[in-house]
Amino acid sequence: MRILFYSPDADADSWTNSFAEIMPGVELHFWQEGQTMANSPPADYAVVWRPPLAMLQGRTDIKAVFNLGAGVDALLKYGEALPEAPIVRLDDAGMGVQMAEFVSHAVLRYYRRFDEYEEQSKEQLWQVLKPHDKQQFSVGILGLGVLGQRIAQALQQFEFPLLGWSHTMKNVPGVQCFAGRDQLDAFLSQTRVLVCVLPLTAETSNMLGRANLSKLMPGAYLINVARGAHLAEPDLLALIKSGHIAGATLDVFRNEPLPRQHPFWHEPRIRITPHIAALTLFNESIRQIAGKIAALEKGEAISGVVDRVRGY
Ligand code: NAP
Ligand code: GLV
Repeated sequence: MRILFYSPDADADSWTNSFAEIMPGVELHFWQEGQTMANSPPADYAVVWRPPLAMLQGRTDIKAVFNLGAGVDALLKYGEALPEAPIVRLDDAGMGVQMAEFVSHAVLRYYRRFDEYEEQSKEQLWQVLKPHDKQQFSVGILGLGVLGQRIAQALQQFEFPLLGWSHTMKNVPGVQCFAGRDQLDAFLSQTRVLVCVLPLTAETSNMLGRANLSKLMPGAYLINVARGAHLAEPDLLALIKSGHIAGATLDVFRNEPLPRQHPFWHEPRIRITPHIAALTLFNESIRQIAGKIAALEKGEAISGVVDRVRGY
């Protein structure tokens, strides 16, 4: 079994060790700049994260491309230049619990006013703030897929009113579900904390712009753990300045790393993390991919195959 591998800044030793432990006997080939199908060894499968098109273009040997993440926007942007082999995303693989931790922390920080207590502490100010009313602190999750549902499950423990929005209608216990553009306004108008965990597609790009963010409850909060291109950045800054949005926790940006001169760095009501909400875990990911390869080799169906038309 030969696997062609690419991940920018990959720690080759760690990946090699994990593959050797979980898929003994597998031949791992790290793709190098300048290699094509003609001048690189043939491969059965590709395992990739944000690969250059040159790695995959024209390849007819691989039976599937495994994406080392949940989001496939960095692959699907290549459109028809991609090989016809199925593209398979990671299903959770240890990312669900990380997302649940990240989003719970951000929601609790705002709900318990820890952001404001942090500011008070800088001024050595001992002052008790009025607690927020939990019934007015609804959390709306854009995207009720693998990660969105895991976030909802975690937040249920804290008894927040929960709403969720997806493409097709879901039935998630404890979550008021909405689906499609027709129900988006109703979802937004009842949401105090908006969590975005949507895939980036032609339909969802720029969704977090002035028009939609203005429909949130006054004093709303935004938590974006999806992709930077979901957010119209100047609109967020304007809505924070106006007070309609009280704060934002952003893990993803249009340009990553976020440029040093970007105004987000200077807005105290924006909290920035460097795309770490849910990291790809070596062993969990390889174990999942190994299981799916075994199933494919037996001619069985697998989960996580991307619908290229839908875009996720
Ligand atoms: P998923 O299982 O495919 O779920 C996507 C959800 O979005 C589904 O509920 C889907 O609706 C909904 N959706 C998609 N397009 C929609 C539209 N046009 N209108 C309404 N709903 C729409 O994906 P996932 O595994 O939860 O991952 C979600 C995203 O999280 C990834 O694509 C990636 O961008 C991001 N992510 C970020 C990090 C990080 O560290 N920051 C880590 C991992 C993932 P249906 O269920 O009806 O299809
Ligand atoms: C990370 O951003 C992922 O999509 O897995």
